[in-house]
Amino acid sequence: MRAGLSFEPIDAGNVARYVPLYVAVFNAPPWNDGWTEAAAFERLGGFASEARFLGVGALFQGQPVGLALGHGERWTDRWLFQLREMCVATACQGQGVGRALMANFEAELRGAGYGTVYLQTGQDAPARAFYEAAGFVPYGHVPMHKHLVPA
Ligand SMILES: CC(C)(COP(=O)(O)OP(=O)(O)OC[C@H]1O[C@@H](n2cnc3c(N)ncnc32)[C@H](O)[C@@H]1OP(=O)(O)O)[C@@H](O)C(=O)NCCC(=O)NCCS
Repeated sequence: MRAGLSFEPIDAGNVARYVPLYVAVFNAPPWNDGWTEAAAFERLGGFASEARFLGVGALFQGQPVGLALGHGERWTDRWLFQLREMCVATACQGQGVGRALMANFEAELRGAGYGTVYLQTGQDAPARAFYEAAGFVPYGHVPMHKHLVPA
């Protein structure tokens, strides 16, 4: 599968193409999010319209099979990049697509001058093992939220 992969930049002009992939992956286990295509487009399109947005899509036989995207932010001594979304089509998972996509994305980030990439994932999510295999380590912050209207 990896041999047939290609990569392209994701931007505000083509992000809609990645919405069905995103909806299918995150509406499936373990996330079972419940996305509509409209809400997913608002999320991904919103990210893509930000000034320091950067995204890479993975294609197999011309069809989107993976995405990695997020945005940059200034820190004291460097620019950080927050990886907001990453996924691989369910049928293509476990075949090295995510690893190849992450390698491609990290090269893009280095080229753009980013010194650190960070993300948030589920404490017990299978994705955690993927990120740890890619060299990510927990850094001690606790995610917190408060609903302002009933969830
Ligand atoms: C997480 C995800 C992006 C990984 O992509 P992938 O193509 O399935 O991963 P790869 O096949 O490239 O795996 C690379 C390495 O990561 C680790 N890994 C990947 N999935 C794993 C799993 N479910 N359990 C344990 N280790 C895993 C392994 O070390 C693997 O190397 P190996 O196959 O040589 O053992 C993909 O599975 C996915 O989209 N999951 C659903 C959406 C999601 O959870 N996204 C992240 C939300 S924060």
